[in-house]
Amino acid sequence: MVSSHSAHVLVASNRGPVSYEVGEDGSLNAKRGGGGLVSGLSAIGPDAGALWVCSALSDGDREAVRRGVGEDGVRMLAIPADVHADAYNGIANSVLWFVHHLLYQTPLEPAFDAEFRRQWASYETYNRAFAQALAEEAAEGAAVLVQDYHLCLVPGMLRELRPDLRIAHFSHTPWAPVDYFTMLPDDIRTQLLEGMLGADRVAFLTWRWATAFQRCADELDPERYLSMWPSGAPRAIQHRQGKELLRTTYIGVHGLGADADFLHARSHEADVEERMTALREEIGEGRRTIVRVDRTELSKNIVRGLLAYRHLLDTRPEWRERVVHVAFAYPSRQDLAVYRDYTAEVQRLAEEINSQYGTPGWSPVVLHVKDDFARSLAAYRLADVALVNPIRDGMNLVAKEMPVVSDEGCALVLSREAGAWEELRRDALVVNPYDVVETADALHEALTMPPDERAERTKRLATAATALPPAQWFLDQLNALNELTGR
Ligand code: F6P
Repeated sequence: MVSSHSAHVLVASNRGPVSYEVGEDGSLNAKRGGGGLVSGLSAIGPDAGALWVCSALSDGDREAVRRGVGEDGVRMLAIPADVHADAYNGIANSVLWFVHHLLYQTPLEPAFDAEFRRQWASYETYNRAFAQALAEEAAEGAAVLVQDYHLCLVPGMLRELRPDLRIAHFSHTPWAPVDYFTMLPDDIRTQLLEGMLGADRVAFLTWRWATAFQRCADELDPERYLSMWPSGAPRAIQHRQGKELLRTTYIGVHGLGADADFLHARSHEADVEERMTALREEIGEGRRTIVRVDRTELSKNIVRGLLAYRHLLDTRPEWRERVVHVAFAYPSRQDLAVYRDYTAEVQRLAEEINSQYGTPGWSPVVLHVKDDFARSLAAYRLADVALVNPIRDGMNLVAKEMPVVSDEGCALVLSREAGAWEELRRDALVVNPYDVVETADALHEALTMPPDERAERTKRLATAATALPPAQWFLDQLNALNELTGR
């Protein structure tokens, strides 16, 4: 590919804003996604010289790259499918995601064996492909915003290739505590941290994750990396050689919020109204609703949510026939056996609760697994109680979206391990996600919350949830990067 060296703002992420499917007649159908980065890039406008570098994820995407089909402002990398699978499924989703979300069953795993080393080499190759593409595309002094755990090595690789660039890395996940992170082999964690510290700025969704990262970096060579924790000034990690300061990596926090304007408008469109009618039928007249909407992701804790609901029905029989748990659990990462097993367990447990307590006119759990955004918004609008109980979560936007969208206001049962807890805890009913009995009690408290209190809390939750809308979240990061001096 001929290098263009013309982009002034570059975003790099594994999953891009568009994906392709090959239709039966051989034509390519493009599907566009949403989210914070899409809003952010549209906010800087079409003339900002923005380019999004992403990976081809499917055969359709690879076919689009092969045919030269693409969108303006997007460069999709046709990384070989086997290299991508090792990097994405093998390392990013089976190791790094597990480390940051504390998901290992440690008596048996992890075991960093020869297969891990083979996959790690693919992770390096995949990161290098991004670094090279960014180096080819970036104009002199451009700002590059690298996303997430898939691309931890990119900042360091890119700095080697293009020291003139301003580089940021943003983690959308939590960051692991030191004792968990140090499970990784020494050379691997050094590579990960040094890769990220190739950036001028590394940023997170909450201070908790930023602090965890800095503590892990403190375990690196203290002669070379000196942590700064000044009060009133940005935290940073200085890169040193003896007494000489070589450069600084700054640490930032940007708590992504919900997009109120979009949600209000979208949730009142006709397809959402239709889904509300259908859902009301399924729920039944006059019943209360406990709503959850998640990707079926190991960290979302859907199974313990169902166990808590069963405990509620067990111990407080007055709720039988009077409440329905509306649980949307949309398949995710189904290439991984552990995700498929988890999805099956969610379905099995929902069926078990329905056969144990259900009556001819009442299904205690209404479970849907087919992804349908309009139906998710319909459930948000109908929610009396929002259940968000992840084991650990970078932010959890569902916790922020439900109070914004719910028609009558909803009581929020929220895990203290969700990033959103930092901003929403005052008006949520906070639970330990491992404590099923406490979660059941919180569900009861939420269901019996007086309407005035529920409305007041929902109003405050919605205000906190929308404090940093997606476009501003992105612009803040870009401005913070461009304003850095003394790199
Ligand atoms: O939600 C956290 C996150 O890291 C997002 O930033 C990212 O889009 C997603 O997880 C990755 O999920 P997937 O494997 O489906 O692309």
